[in-house]
Amino acid sequence: MSSPLLQVAEVRLAFGGLQALDGPSFTVADGEIVGLIGPNGAGKTSLFNCVSGLYRPQSGSIRVAGTEVIGVPRHRVASLGVGRTFQNLGLFSTQTVLENVLAGAYHVTRGGYWASALALPGVARTEARVRAEARELLSALSLSGVADRIAGTLPFGTLKRVELARALLGSPRLLLVDEPANGLIQSEVAELGATLRALAADRGTAILLVEHHMGLVMSTCDRVVVLDFGRLIAEGAPADVARDPAVITAYLGTAA
Ligand SMILES: Nc1ncnc2c1ncn2[C@@H]1O[C@H](COP(=O)(O)OP(=O)(O)OP(=O)(O)O)[C@@H](O)[C@H]1O
Ligand SMILES: [Mg+2]
Repeated sequence: MSSPLLQVAEVRLAFGGLQALDGPSFTVADGEIVGLIGPNGAGKTSLFNCVSGLYRPQSGSIRVAGTEVIGVPRHRVASLGVGRTFQNLGLFSTQTVLENVLAGAYHVTRGGYWASALALPGVARTEARVRAEARELLSALSLSGVADRIAGTLPFGTLKRVELARALLGSPRLLLVDEPANGLIQSEVAELGATLRALAADRGTAILLVEHHMGLVMSTCDRVVVLDFGRLIAEGAPADVARDPAVITAYLGTAA
């Protein structure tokens, strides 16, 4: 039996006296779209930061394709096939869209995904291949027309797609997306949902989706995991989670 692509087990992360993650455990399988939801401050972004190597939890285990990633530098985690986007756009505003997407390769390069290839005599050929992949991703995300535009001059909704393209360079097996629908208009949200489902279905990309837009979560995710105060309070099919009393209470609690 093969192990799940992502296996999070009893992860604990504290900032001083604040317990940001209080032992959640869950898994994500290849090609599965799992929603990670919960009220503001529940620990969703902190969990992403632990998986991608930005934060180091005090205890627990996070395995990607069977390899422990706690304590592993972030470029090494990327080279294991983990791509991510950021809650607040992590783009270079003075560079072009294409340069921003290529920056995804630079991240991965240092870790080894392209490094071995780049160390070979055919560097130029490899760079051409990376550029070709970047162009393909721009096309797939309807960004070809803005490839040479300076990122800082483009609308927010377009930049969210640029960030997605960058995270997809190098074909990650696991994609972590943090509030991709935030700031998008409804038609863009629908398009985003279709893009995520196509990635999972066509490329077998596993996706962990942090999102407050419940319509997107309900229509896109195979399964949903709910955090509250760093704890896992519910897990299951989207429709079941949506009517779980503990989940409703957690959301009402923050609204009040
Ligand atoms: N670098 C940090 N230093 C100190 N506290 C932090 C840090 N990062 C997160 N926290 C705290 O950890 C808790 C969880 O934050 P986190 O950003 O993971 O929540 P979230 O679920 O992503 O919330 P939101 O939906 O608002 O984005 C919060 O109380 C937050 O203030
Ligand atoms: Mg967050």
